[in-house]
Amino acid sequence: MNRAILSGGERPSALATEFARSALAGLPVPEAFTPGEARRLVTLLGLSGASVARHYQEEDLSRKARPREAFASLHVGPGEIPFLEYFARLVDRTGTGHCGRDSYASLVRWNVPTTEVRLGDQVVAVMPGAFDDARIRTYTADPGEVSFFELLKKSEALELAANDILEPISAGTVDILSAEAEQRARSAALLLTALYRLNRDFVRLPPGQGGLSTEHFMDVFRQFAVHWETGDLPPSGAQDPEFLRRDFLLGIAFPDYDLHVKQVFPALLEDERRILAEHMERPSLTTVLLTSLGLDDVTLETMPGDQMLATLHRHSILGAWCLLLAANAKVGAVHLMLAEKYLFKPQRGRDDAGVGDRLLVSNRKGTTGMDEPLLVRLARARQHHPLRRVGHLYAGDVTRLASAVPRPAGTSNPPATVRFVTHHA
Ligand code: HEM
Repeated sequence: MNRAILSGGERPSALATEFARSALAGLPVPEAFTPGEARRLVTLLGLSGASVARHYQEEDLSRKARPREAFASLHVGPGEIPFLEYFARLVDRTGTGHCGRDSYASLVRWNVPTTEVRLGDQVVAVMPGAFDDARIRTYTADPGEVSFFELLKKSEALELAANDILEPISAGTVDILSAEAEQRARSAALLLTALYRLNRDFVRLPPGQGGLSTEHFMDVFRQFAVHWETGDLPPSGAQDPEFLRRDFLLGIAFPDYDLHVKQVFPALLEDERRILAEHMERPSLTTVLLTSLGLDDVTLETMPGDQMLATLHRHSILGAWCLLLAANAKVGAVHLMLAEKYLFKPQRGRDDAGVGDRLLVSNRKGTTGMDEPLLVRLARARQHHPLRRVGHLYAGDVTRLASAVPRPAGTSNPPATVRFVTHHA
């Protein structure tokens, strides 16, 4: 229906009519579902609800000011429960604290199959999906949408693995100066390097062969990120809680970062809000490490190069930590590259050519309002870590740095891999 409406073959209102008749009319009350069933239905009704809202608002842009109106004609089940009330009760049944509209959690984590991360032959993280099939549900079935959701879920699974490996150091059960902490830092660096490569290679997929075209991203996909209620938060990669947890674990030179993150709290799940709030109260691992070694930003800033290398060789954890922070900086940089390539640069091109912006969902900023200068500042903050001068000694070349950092005997660099696994929900 979405494809037919977008190509002009169907009227915009046709989706709401069909959705009410073939999906909503036969649904039982939300309380009849198990939490797992409720999560699956939130994903499906989220995709459909966003589609109904998009076509309603696109048909008459003055309706953007009254987004709830899109759902006024939709009622669910024999009891004719208004759609938004039904959705809110369904969300309650999930038991997750999900918000009353679609979100990153439902569109990506629940929608995309269970994803497993391995270091060598060891499973280091499993990120469950809510469905037991291998499908990825999208708005239009465009292969680029499928790959985009796949990229997000695989990225989050790699991040989960890296964060969980670092978490015991943050919780204080593994001493930061122990050999185990060093091994954990090395493993996390390998996982973040795999995350960097996954994102870098995404742009190499040609449109039509699974690749995402900028036109589809800007004109089709992003246009589904409309408001359901005035002031609510449409889905966004900014709601990936593992990216945010990593920033707290490793530290980020961004003023009031906790306040920045709290802005996305309404779109997160309850456990995610709780875990991030706990991290906001803890010092970052980078701070803990430097304090334990009697180092600080100013000392590192002014230390002569040969002394810096000597310090690095004296404390092998410092070398492992450099690799970790350098890998994190590269992840930040590659993310900015993606946002530039798929959104900010092409929109600048449209502005320069006098084409202007989309009137439904603006392409001049992200779906929750983050603009290019903000994303640049965030990427720079991840690069501006206290050990960056060590990287500079190796001309920013992480491979040269890695080969210069002494590795404890008997340790290896197992490959990090990420893949979908079928599972039964
Ligand atoms: C083609 C791929 C991608 C593009 C074009 C893209 C684009 C964007 C845009 C435009 C924003 C601003 C969002 C807003 O206003 O809410 C954003 C934010 C964000 N995205 Fe992505 N993104 C991509 C992939 C990813 C992936 C794979 C992740 C997770 C690993 C991710 C994580 C984030 C985070 C955490 C933010 C918040 C800003 C920050 O902390 O730097 N994105 N992205």
